[in-house]
Amino acid sequence: MILIKLGGSVVTDKSKPMTSRPEVIDRLAMELSKIPGPKIIIHGGGSFGHIKAKQYALHTGFTDESQREGICQVQNDMRALNRLIEESLRKAGVPVASIPAGAIATFDNGALASFPSDVFQHYLDIGITPISFGDVVMDRSRGISICSGDDIMLKLAADLKAEICIFVTAVDGIFPTYPPAEGQGPLPEIGRDDAVAFTVKDADVTGSMQRKLKLMFDIANLGTKVQIVNGLVPGRLADALSGKFVIGTVVRGD
Ligand code: IPE
Repeated sequence: MILIKLGGSVVTDKSKPMTSRPEVIDRLAMELSKIPGPKIIIHGGGSFGHIKAKQYALHTGFTDESQREGICQVQNDMRALNRLIEESLRKAGVPVASIPAGAIATFDNGALASFPSDVFQHYLDIGITPISFGDVVMDRSRGISICSGDDIMLKLAADLKAEICIFVTAVDGIFPTYPPAEGQGPLPEIGRDDAVAFTVKDADVTGSMQRKLKLMFDIANLGTKVQIVNGLVPGRLADALSGKFVIGTVVRGD
């Protein structure tokens, strides 16, 4: 089984509220439709998730009644983005079923506490590609938390023993310095102890790039191949899915 995360920076324009990238979504859906075999697709929030989640401080737990409006809005916006991606995949010939994290997952003190991965397996068993996404979820001790697409990736990779996890981002991979020196490509592979630089320093509501990378190392430690590829370059995802060499970064386990 292959797990694919379409990062929020690829499927949306992160700088403009509620702005998707329909042509990129359609192209990635076509690339995904070309590979046979079981796959699960997860997507991030980008400008449909992070902006309002931050505005209503949803990542700090349920602290104020005014957050109720924010919870509903962010869930609604994430479902709107999910509909676009779901429709695009269906048009490309991929039979998909949407499984929102907010409906099935619970957190406890900011960490994933329960998540029924078997539901995803049942869909796979009948040849349907499950699709889930980062969402506002209920938290047993803090009221609410933000579940990122990366949290879902780690959980599914562990429970369903994914062979490959591909993180589709808006950059070529992880660079040793940022901005990269002229002509410098991304690191072909990285381990936990390697020095790396990040494009975006500010943490968003699901944490910094460092946190995302930590989750990727955790997945790689399971024995899953973890690869970061640039989804804005046509054909990169398709090539990675078919096992061809692509420019990108492979994340090594310990
Ligand atoms: C964020 O999910 C979900 C919300 C803010 C509701 P991710 O953390 O997976 O999103 P991206 O990929 O970083 O945009």
